[in-house]
Amino acid sequence: MAEACEKTAENPTRRRILEWTAIGLGIISTLVLAIPILSYLVGMLIRRQPDEWIDLGPVKKFPVGQTLLVEFLNPKAQPWDGLTQKASAYVRHVQAEKFQVFAINCAHLGCPVSWFPASGLFMCPCHGGVYYEDGSHASGPPPRGLFEYDYQITAQGTLQIKGGHLPTLQDPMRKPRPGEKA
Ligand code: FES
Repeated sequence: MAEACEKTAENPTRRRILEWTAIGLGIISTLVLAIPILSYLVGMLIRRQPDEWIDLGPVKKFPVGQTLLVEFLNPKAQPWDGLTQKASAYVRHVQAEKFQVFAINCAHLGCPVSWFPASGLFMCPCHGGVYYEDGSHASGPPPRGLFEYDYQITAQGTLQIKGGHLPTLQDPMRKPRPGEKA
């Protein structure tokens, strides 16, 4: 009889411990699942900072008919970014005040593409993506042409591009203009 009483007194305590353990594990699991979701939302807010105009140099630095690689500093870089604050773009001087400025990142998975003037093609070393000189898709896995920056020429004759974030399919530097091939 005394043994039976001990058991009934012990059971509620054990049950309570199990309940609290289950609640604790539930809270931990919820937090673990919430961290990536919160990171994604915070990331979206940070990315919404507007892009900025970046100087690429005087227009005369870019001969008509040529495509040149230029380096610039990402305006959103932080002091601890080191070498990664340097970004690159290809400037194609089409004619007079008409330019095309391409992001160096392949539209497939972002590898840096190289320009081959002899063949007039951009090629990606990662999976064989190829683009024509006007940035349009030629062959390989990329689902579209190279990402392009918006550009402007200042009154002082400086070529500027609007940038500051890594282009992606969901968030390109600029949307294709009507009738323009991506
Ligand atoms: S990253 Fe360029 S083809 Fe895959």
